[in-house]
Amino acid sequence: MFAPGKLVTRLLARCPWRHYHRRIARVSVNKALSSDDGSTKQVRIQGWVRSVRAQKEVLFLHINDGSSLQNLQIVAEPSLNNSAISFGAAVEVSGTLVKSLGKKQNMEVKAEDIRVIGECNTKDFPFKIKERHPSEYTRQFPHLRCRTNMFGSLLRIRSEATAAIQEYFQNNGFLHIHTPIITSNDCEGAGELFQVEATSRVPAAGDHRGFFGVPAFLTVSGQLHLEVMSGAFTRVFTFGPTFRAENSQSRRHLAEFYMVETEMSFTESLEDIMQVMENLFKSATSSLLNKCAEDLSLFFKYVSPGQEERSEKLLKDKFIVMSYTEAIEILKRAPDTFQYSTEWGCDLQTEHEKYLVRHCGDVPIFVINYPYDLKPFYMRDNEDGPQHTVAAVDLLVPGVGELFGGSLREERLHVLQPRLDRLGLTETYQWYLDLRRFGSVPHGGFGMGFERYLQCILGVDNIKDVIPFPRHPYSCLL
Ligand code: 4AD
Ligand code: MG
Repeated sequence: MFAPGKLVTRLLARCPWRHYHRRIARVSVNKALSSDDGSTKQVRIQGWVRSVRAQKEVLFLHINDGSSLQNLQIVAEPSLNNSAISFGAAVEVSGTLVKSLGKKQNMEVKAEDIRVIGECNTKDFPFKIKERHPSEYTRQFPHLRCRTNMFGSLLRIRSEATAAIQEYFQNNGFLHIHTPIITSNDCEGAGELFQVEATSRVPAAGDHRGFFGVPAFLTVSGQLHLEVMSGAFTRVFTFGPTFRAENSQSRRHLAEFYMVETEMSFTESLEDIMQVMENLFKSATSSLLNKCAEDLSLFFKYVSPGQEERSEKLLKDKFIVMSYTEAIEILKRAPDTFQYSTEWGCDLQTEHEKYLVRHCGDVPIFVINYPYDLKPFYMRDNEDGPQHTVAAVDLLVPGVGELFGGSLREERLHVLQPRLDRLGLTETYQWYLDLRRFGSVPHGGFGMGFERYLQCILGVDNIKDVIPFPRHPYSCLL
C-alpha cells in the first residue's frame, strides 16, 4: 500500500543534510536578529547573500531573506568558503545563534555548515554589491529589483500599510466587500476603460455578442457596487486593483493601481465624509511610522531628506477645508503663471493643486463643492446657483496633489432620473435607480489612491517606484 509518510522518511534518509532538516528549526533573519534571550540556539537560516568577506582566519557573510532591512551576520571557518558563495547566491546556513561581539549587530550565527542552494553569476547579475542604483535603472528589472534594499523596504511598508488600512476599517464597523474587477459599467463616465474580450472565443458567423453578451471592462472604481452594498450593510469598503486607460506618463498615474474605497449610508454631510478621510489617513500613517521605523528611515535618508518631519507634521495638522470657488480665487491672485486656465468651471490641474497646498503651508486641503459640469452623474446636486455645484470633496496633499476623491451621492430619484435622462444613461442604470426606489438613504463615500498615499508618506517622486509591477502606456513588463 502507498504510504506517503514512509516515502518522505526514505527520501530524507538519503538527503546529505537530513540531520539539520530534522533537528534544527528554520528561523527567519528578522527572528534571529531579535531573539536576544541569552540562550544559544541551533538554527537554520535560508536567504540570499548580500556580502562576503573572506579573511585569513574567518569568513563573514551577510544574509537577507526579506524579513527585515538588516542582514544577519554569519561567521564561519575559512574552510567552509567556496567560490559559489557569492553576492546574490541563495544559501542555507546551519549553526548556532549567539550574541555578537561586533557593534553593528546584536546577534550572529556561528556557522557549522553552509550550503549553496542557487548560485548567482555576479558578472551578469544587474545589481552590484554595495552600489546604490538609481530607481530608473532598477525599474528595468521588475523581476529582480525586489532584492535591492530600497525595494525590499518599500514592499514591507506597502504590506504594513495594507494591514493598517484594513485595521482602520475593521475597527470602525466597515464590512469588507470584494467588488468585481470585470464590470459592465463606467462609474466615472470618463471613458478611460480597458475593454475585456476572450481571445480564445471564435464567434459563429453573425454572432457579435462577445464573451459576456455585453461590453465588459476592467473596473475604474468599485463605487457603484459599494453603493449597492451600503444599502444593506450601512458602512462598507473595498481595496483592490483599479484600471484606467489614461494616456499619461505622469509621475502620479498608472494604468493599474490599488484603490481604497468606502461607502457610508445615513450620511448627510461632507463633514462626516471628510472626518473619515482624515481619520483613515492619520490612523494608517501613525501605524506605519510606529511599525516600519527602520524601513522608513531608508527612504527618509536616501530618497527624500526631511520627509520624516513632513510626514509627522501631516499627523499633527488639522486638515484645511476650502470651497472650489475659494480655491479659484486663491489661484487667480497667485503670483505664479499657470499653464492651464484658472477660470471658474475649469478642472484643477496638478500645478494648481500643488500651488494651493504650498499656499496653505504644506497642510492637506479638502476642496469641496466643485462645478456640476465637471463631475460624474452620481454626485449630489447642491441646487445652488448661478455657479452650480455638487457636493464633491477632493483631498490635496503635499508632494502629490489629489489623493482622495469623494462625494455625497444623489439619493433623490426625482433629481437623479432627469440627470441620467439628459446623459442618455437611464436604461443602463435602471438598477442604480432601483436603489433610489427601494429604501434610499442619504449616503456618500470616497476613494483613495493607495500608491499616491505611499508616495505622499515616503516622499517618492515617481509612482512607478511604489508598486511591484507598474503598468503604464507602452509598458507592461512581466
Ligand atoms: O477621483 P477618482 O477618480 O474617484 C473615483 O473613482 C470615485 N468613484 C471613488 C469613490 O468615491 N469611491 O479616484 C480616486 C483616487 C484619486 O484621488 C487618486 O488618488 C487615485 O484614485 N487615482 C489614481 N492613482 C493612480 N493612477 C491613476 N491613474 C489614478 N486615477 C485615480
Ligand atoms: Mg478625482
